[in-house]
Amino acid sequence: MLVRALLGADRRLDEDVWASNRSPEKLEDLSIHHHRLRTGETLELAQECKTLFLCVRPEDTAEALEEIKSALTAEHLLALITNVVELDQLAAAVPCRTAKVIPSFAQFVRRGVSLLIPGPRSTKDDIERLRDLLERVSHVYEIEESQSRAATNVVSCGPGFLARFCAGWAEAAHQMQPDIPIDDWEFLVWETVRAVAELPRAGVAEKEILEEVSTPGGMTYEGLQAMDQVLPQMWTEVMRRTAEREKVLREAIRL
Ligand SMILES: NC(=O)c1ccc[n+]([C@@H]2O[C@H](COP(=O)([O-])OP(=O)(O)OC[C@H]3O[C@@H](n4cnc5c(N)ncnc54)[C@H](OP(=O)(O)O)[C@@H]3O)[C@@H](O)[C@H]2O)c1
Repeated sequence: MLVRALLGADRRLDEDVWASNRSPEKLEDLSIHHHRLRTGETLELAQECKTLFLCVRPEDTAEALEEIKSALTAEHLLALITNVVELDQLAAAVPCRTAKVIPSFAQFVRRGVSLLIPGPRSTKDDIERLRDLLERVSHVYEIEESQSRAATNVVSCGPGFLARFCAGWAEAAHQMQPDIPIDDWEFLVWETVRAVAELPRAGVAEKEILEEVSTPGGMTYEGLQAMDQVLPQMWTEVMRRTAEREKVLREAIRL
């Protein structure tokens, strides 16, 4: 996701982008689509690049670190992209400077928000460097690590949550009116989402949207009342479950 976004950015990078992956076919696939991408073994990347993004699943972190540890020095900046491994834990395991970056699938269209989290040894220049990279492909919002779960649930899990929300909406409409095909319902839902997302840019504030479309006693008003009965609990449950899952995964991590 990051490689595609960085190499496809309008503001081109001056330096090379390298990638490694333990599945050679995935790397090959990336190379086919991105001729400027340089590829190599994970250790080779640590030898060639001073800014590294470790983009493996939390349970693979220890193994991946083991592969690059011998090459890491104080000159390196290592950015993690997961909330599960904590920055203090990482800093204790490596000699280099560290930070976190939480990307979003929305980078695919050079939109959305990437979270930027300074690490215990990261410098002002490190954070500026990461900000400069990420601003080529998204907005950047800097937070502290303790704020990361809730923020990730919005900017990074968000595309998934929104896609499921919209799918459920289209399915409910299809159940009510099955003679309109589900694909058409999906188009109607997503086109509405796309248009509404543009309204604040056209000067209509989020609050105004509700005021404009919801007349007390009308049908939108009634639908909103129904939503108010379930949505606050649903979002609270989403936040609670993700935090709980993160805790479980975190307890299993040893670097
Ligand atoms: N997906 C998102 O939208 C998103 C957003 C923000 C953060 N994240 C975080 O990003 C991390 C990765 O998520 P993902 O969805 O990209 O998972 P993924 O699709 O499984 O990608 C992880 C990749 O890392 C490779 N890998 C594992 N160990 C390696 C090693 N030692 N050396 C080289 N490559 C190695 C895996 O190779 P194999 O193919 O051999 O397994 C796999 O291709 C997770 O921590 C996740 O929380 C994801």
